[in-house]
Amino acid sequence: MIRLKIKLCLSGTLILLGLTASVAYTQTETLASASPFPVGLALTRNFYKNPDYARLAALEFSSVTAENVMKPRYISIGPDRYYWQAADSVVDFCRKNKMQLHGHTLVWNKSVPDWVKEFKGDSTAWEGILKRYIQDVANHFKGKVVSWDVVNEALNYEENIKKDGIWRNSIWLQHLGKDYVARCFQYARQADPSAKLFYNDYKVEADTLKLAGMLHMLDDFIERGIPIDGVGLQMHITMDTPEPGIRRVIREVARRGLLVHISELDVSVNPGHDSVIVKEKDELLKRQADKVRQIVTAFMEEVPPKQRFAITTWGLTDANSWLAYKKEDYPLLFDRNFKPKAAYYAFLKGLTKKYTGQ
Ligand code: XIL
Repeated sequence: MIRLKIKLCLSGTLILLGLTASVAYTQTETLASASPFPVGLALTRNFYKNPDYARLAALEFSSVTAENVMKPRYISIGPDRYYWQAADSVVDFCRKNKMQLHGHTLVWNKSVPDWVKEFKGDSTAWEGILKRYIQDVANHFKGKVVSWDVVNEALNYEENIKKDGIWRNSIWLQHLGKDYVARCFQYARQADPSAKLFYNDYKVEADTLKLAGMLHMLDDFIERGIPIDGVGLQMHITMDTPEPGIRRVIREVARRGLLVHISELDVSVNPGHDSVIVKEKDELLKRQADKVRQIVTAFMEEVPPKQRFAITTWGLTDANSWLAYKKEDYPLLFDRNFKPKAAYYAFLKGLTKKYTGQ
């Protein structure tokens, strides 16, 4: 409540003083103040260099995921050697602005430190480095993060499932076997018993084989008492991703009693890597807004209030989206001038829906 007031007040002050014309827009609510659950953003590495960026992030959002600086390749610089500084500045930003911090990510096959890639040892030695990393990092951020993506993208997709089974090939799978994922959760729980622990993955809204694989893993974890609290659905989608698949995965996770995090939301309007004709752009952005409304609506209608962990967008503005580095795209809720887009208002609209399950 207090935060809500401060945020609204700050927004008013910005408008009155015209401090930053680019950030000031005339509206009375923010994503964070309008939402009954935390609304997050992925904070880019150099966030502190642009005051407009930092101000808008703190004004509109109540939760943060570090886009890169809490990944193993950033943190782990050698055996028992860690680089904390960049991640700690994200912790400070969250504290200063009373935002919650979601840790991303302890284990990911695409973020394996070079020294680990070169490591030689038997499976006991490999288990040792995995366990030690998870526990050292979880310890460092204890009391600073509310939650962790413990394992990111450990599952196969599409045809690979038929060929190789559900577990995605990775250095950890090769050295430790498929149950390494479950053990990561146990190590994280031991190190930080109060952090909420998530499994995070993508495309489960569009790939029914992968969805089945993930649900199988979740049911197995629940049955065996593996300490998992929630699922992060990355939701890197396009304006054409069918709505029923989005709803289905949200419902399936929610009915297992787990927390649901839409963890990396962005909606590409240019999945084909074409050049977007200006005339088409308005139409594409309308379809994008509609998709955002569908996601927020499904989240509100399908997830019981206590299981709504957060919705996090993967970046702040279209200028700093990872999708827009290599091609023309406009995937986020704010444009390059920090102005809210149709997708932003569609997000607010989705928030007005109510839980319809039992
Ligand atoms: C991406 C970042 O946005 C990029 O800046 C980086 O170069 C690669 O990683 N799934 C994830 C995120 O879980 O960590 C990825 O983030 C996007 C896909």
